Amino acid sequence: MHIAPLPRHVAIIMDGNGRWARRRGLPRIEGHRQGAKSVRDVVRASRELGLPALTLYAFSSQNWARPIEEVQGLMMLLRDYVIEERDKIMDNGIRLTTAGTISRLPAFVVDPLQSLMNDAAGPRDMGLCLALSYGGRDSMVDAVRTLARQVAAGELADA
Ligand code: FPP
Repeated sequence: MHIAPLPRHVAIIMDGNGRWARRRGLPRIEGHRQGAKSVRDVVRASRELGLPALTLYAFSSQNWARPIEEVQGLMMLLRDYVIEERDKIMDNGIRLTTAGTISRLPAFVVDPLQSLMNDAAGPRDMGLCLALSYGGRDSMVDAVRTLARQVAAGELADA
């Protein structure tokens, strides 16, 4: 049997949670809960297949504009994911990184996330990147701020 080579990197935009819930007459947060469950399945399957890198676009900077209860529910799902999956991420050689402005997330998410990122760092078997509070415009603003800081600190020439 011919097995096609795996891509080096798979990126998934998490979408359709609301539609999944609406079709079943369930509250939107149930769709997100199911989405978080799917994340667990996708990460496990990716690791088993030997995928080198997986990126999940989980929460865009526009998502902050959603109703407060939905944003809070999503933050709790994220925190639960980080706390409950810690051992699996550590034991399965997964390197955890993030993309996006994670400083915008509440401390109850950032603290366990940062701690897991510190522990699950360095060369490992699979890279898992969570894009959180991500957006093209935000990335550009962040990059320009970093450059401006480096110029001001004399680490980078301004010409
Ligand atoms: C899109 O669905 C999904 C989101 C806005 C959030 C996804 C994030 C989580 C489920 C939190 C847990 C994340 C991880 C990584 C464990 P939508 O509401 O836009 O659905 P629609 O496209 O049907 O409207």
